[in-house]
Amino acid sequence: MKTIFSGIQPSGTLTLGNYLGAMQHFIPLQNENNCYYCIVDEHAVTVPQDRLKLRHNIRSLAALYIASGIDPDKATLFIQSEVPAHTQLGWMMQCISYIGELERMTQFKDKADGKEAVSSSLLTYPPLMAADILLYKTDIVPVGDDQKQHLELTRNLAQRFNNKYNDIFTVPEISIPKSGARIMSLQDPNKKMSKSDDNEKGYISMLDEPKKIIKKIKSAVTDSEGIVKFDKENKPGVSNLITILSACTGQSVATIESAYEGKGYGDFKQDVADAVLNVLEPIQKRYNELIDSDKLDDILDQGADKASYEANKMLRKAKKAMGLGRVPKKK
Ligand code: AMP
Ligand code: TRP
Repeated sequence: MKTIFSGIQPSGTLTLGNYLGAMQHFIPLQNENNCYYCIVDEHAVTVPQDRLKLRHNIRSLAALYIASGIDPDKATLFIQSEVPAHTQLGWMMQCISYIGELERMTQFKDKADGKEAVSSSLLTYPPLMAADILLYKTDIVPVGDDQKQHLELTRNLAQRFNNKYNDIFTVPEISIPKSGARIMSLQDPNKKMSKSDDNEKGYISMLDEPKKIIKKIKSAVTDSEGIVKFDKENKPGVSNLITILSACTGQSVATIESAYEGKGYGDFKQDVADAVLNVLEPIQKRYNELIDSDKLDDILDQGADKASYEANKMLRKAKKAMGLGRVPKKK
C-alpha cells in the first residue's frame, strides 16, 4: 500500500482541465492506497482573494471532490489551513530553500510577470507545497504536468533535509496521467485551460450549465481544414478536442480519428459536447445534494482530525531533527 497526496487550490470553480488532468485520476487510487486529498487554501492566498468567494470556493471544492467519487471512508479529504502543521513545516522548508532556486520556478515567473506588487509568499509557495507532501510520508503525487518543477524541488528539499539533519522524509515520486495531462483553452489552444482565464469561453467549469457547455464547445477555435486529426503543432484546437473526447470516453486517439474520417467538425463537436456532459452531469447532481449538507462538514472535520494526527507525528520528528523547541521530557 502506497501513500498518495495531492492538492488543488480553491481559487475558482474547477475546470474540465482540472478534472481530466488531476481529479479524475484521484478516484481509482483510493481503493488500494492510503490517499490524502487536500484543499490547499493557504496556497490560494498567495494572490489576492475575496474572503467570501474564497470561503465559498473551499466548500465548493470539497463538495466537488466527493461528487467526483472521492469516498471519505477510503481517502482523507481535508482543508490545509485546518491542519497547522502544514505552515509550520512550510517554514522549516523555507529555511532550507535557496532564493535562487525559488526564483527559477516557472509558475513564480508567470504569476509575478508584469505585476507591481508581488507577495513574498508567491516566491515561497513551493516550500509550503513540499511540506504538504512530506508531512505524510508520501510515495506518489498525482498532478498535471505543470507541477513537475515543483515536485522536483520537493524531492530536492526532502533529500537536502535528510542529508543535513536526519533521514526522516520519504522522497516522493510524481505521477502524470498519460492522457488528458494538459487540456488547453478552447479559445487559445496554445494556452492551458485555466479557471483564472479572463475569457470565460476559454474554459469549461465543472459546474457550467449543460447549455453553456455545449455552446462553449461549439464555439471552440479549430481551423478551416475540416479534418479530425491529431496534430498538436498545426491543429492545436482540433487536437485539444480529440484529447478531451479521448479522456472523457476512454477511446484512443486513433479510434477517434478513424471514426470521423470524411465527417466535418459539426458532428465531431457535438460528440465532444455529449461526452463532456456525460461526465459532468452526474457530478453536478451529486454536488447539488452535498453543498449545503451537514454531511460535508462531518467529512471535513474527520479529515482534518486524521490528517492532523499523522502530520503532527512528522512535524515532531522534523522539529527534533532541526533542534527546535526543547528536549522532550523523559517519561
Ligand atoms: P490548479 O488549478 O492550478 O490548482 O491545479 C490543480 C490540478 O489540476 C493540478 O494537478 C494541475 O496540474 C491540474 N490542472 C490544472 N489545469 C489543468 C489543465 N488545463 N489540464 C490538465 N490539468 C490541469
Ligand atoms: N501547486 C499545486 C497547483 O497549483 C497545488 C498544490 C499545493 C499541490 N500543494 C500540493 C499539489 C501538494 C500536489 C501536492 O496545482
